Amino acid sequence: MVNKNIIAIDGPAGAGKGTLTKRLCDYYGFSGLDTGSLYRAITLCMIEMEHDMDNINLEFAIELTRKLSDTHKILEYAKNPQIRSQLTNKYVASVAKIPEIRAIMREYQISFGTNPPDLPDGRPARGAIIEGRDIGTVICPNAPVKFFITASPETRASRRLKQYIDQGETANYQDVLASIIARDEADRTRATSPMKQAEDAILIDTSLNDKEQTFQVAKKVINERLKIILE
Ligand code: CDP
Repeated sequence: MVNKNIIAIDGPAGAGKGTLTKRLCDYYGFSGLDTGSLYRAITLCMIEMEHDMDNINLEFAIELTRKLSDTHKILEYAKNPQIRSQLTNKYVASVAKIPEIRAIMREYQISFGTNPPDLPDGRPARGAIIEGRDIGTVICPNAPVKFFITASPETRASRRLKQYIDQGETANYQDVLASIIARDEADRTRATSPMKQAEDAILIDTSLNDKEQTFQVAKKVINERLKIILE
């Protein structure tokens, strides 16, 4: 049976999409897909192959994406913590703007939504949460629930800085802020599937809310729109 319980979560870098997705997946028994990790995985693989990331060879990048996706190796790369390094951050938007790469990833994301994998404990998923930049607009335009999660660049930079430090990297606030602003700009202005709030998406600003409040706002909307019975 085709899954119709799809929640689309979009928003800029470091807004808290991942935290909200995880909490909602745990609460509702949904499977979650972090689509940014797919673009990050491709980027990391290219960096590891010592590809010249300042002059990306399109044919090479597209062929590699196809291989990573066909062999499911993309999921292995997506588990590598290096996908969140500052170097991967620097180049991921250049990889993600390539239309052919997005087209390959689109198929993958749609099939996750219509047929979400079982939960880690083996139970069947009750639905899917897909998070990214173009989920509510391009990947799942008919999703019954859409959120656009945002926060001020300063709030997002402080959170990201903390993540780098926790992960053992050295970073300073000004560089992190500049890199977040540059990536947002690249994501917002690219020609194919730019980051955009869908007209029917609910906006949540996480600089004004803590994690619990954000979860409660989202939960209220989901309970109204999806008739999920939790035992
Ligand atoms: O974790 P963070 O919020 O910094 O970003 P992410 O969700 O991991 O996405 C990393 C990058 O992948 C974004 O800056 C975009 O360039 C790209 N991306 C995209 O183009 N489309 C998506 N659906 C998800 C991510």
